[in-house]
Amino acid sequence: MAYKTTIGTDIHKASEWLIKGEAVAIPTETVYGLAANALDNTAVVKIFDVKNRPQFNPLIVHVASFEAIKKWVKKIPAEAELLATAFWPGALTLLLDKNEKISDLVTAGHSRVAIRIPDHPLTLSLLKQLDFPLAAPSANPSGYVSPTSAAHVYEGLNEKIPYILEGGACKVGLESTIVGWDELDKPVIYRLGGISKEHIEKVLGSEIKIAASIKQNPATPGMLKSHYATVTPLHAGGIPELLKKFPDKKAIIINYNHYHPHYPTELQYILTPNNDTNEAASNLFKILREADQRNAELILAEYAPAEGLGLAINDRLYRAQHEWK
Ligand code: TXA
Ligand code: MG
Repeated sequence: MAYKTTIGTDIHKASEWLIKGEAVAIPTETVYGLAANALDNTAVVKIFDVKNRPQFNPLIVHVASFEAIKKWVKKIPAEAELLATAFWPGALTLLLDKNEKISDLVTAGHSRVAIRIPDHPLTLSLLKQLDFPLAAPSANPSGYVSPTSAAHVYEGLNEKIPYILEGGACKVGLESTIVGWDELDKPVIYRLGGISKEHIEKVLGSEIKIAASIKQNPATPGMLKSHYATVTPLHAGGIPELLKKFPDKKAIIINYNHYHPHYPTELQYILTPNNDTNEAASNLFKILREADQRNAELILAEYAPAEGLGLAINDRLYRAQHEWK
């Protein structure tokens, strides 16, 4: 079915569509989400259809309060409560044992549900009005760069959904950091994201592991799947080396914090003029999309320093390139 997609700031309109079982795009501080009633399987299936997302990839459930979370999970470990208190509302998703009210469709059959309280005033008001939680992946066609503005959502999902709730540019600009606990009850980062490893460690008072599946390990080809990817082939690394490797290609360069001196400035972007990994994160997806529209043969992207949100930026750049390696 083709919708006439409208963009607006009306949370009543958004909630009307959601109550009817439709999927609606919502703003969060990380990226825009494609939301539907998490308790209604027919609505949740629409999310997978609209995004063309495989049903084995589970969805994050969004709620308005810590109290609300208790309705959907069996227990909340002490460390989870510590992290929740420190970071919610915010760019942290926790993997917790689900109870029977959360369907296997949402969790793709996993016993844990991914859950978070997003930090955006419009979406928080919307969630407070609704008597159901919202399942929401990022509001982009599966595999493409996540949207950090309503216009980005429109580009990818025009006519596929009835409404985009306009909430401005996403402040963080990277998806949430996902934390769960392993079989020994040790905390693990399953996805690097908008809250840094260092910040989580400070709150926990101990080191946290990064799951083996997201370490940058080309030795596990099964894991190599392009994601967050531009249509223009992207290569990440050091700019001088990349330019040497592709001397005759029309390339757009995405630098970290300064222009490369031996290349036309109009073919370059900078993620963070102020040398700040938070600023770089908030610009990354917008600049990837812009670079993708320049009709270049290649995008060459410079890795960020491996600190703060730099690890998550590098994870996204690394994954963006795999299809072409
Ligand atoms: O910031 C965010 O997290 C955004 C906003 C909209 O909240 N959402 C987002 O959703 O990035 P999505 O679907 O693009 O990414 C969700 C990630 C996927 O990698 C998925 O595999 C993982 O979370 N995930 C979800 N539920 C899970 C579960 N039960 N167990 C393990 N991983 C899970
Ligand atoms: Mg996504």
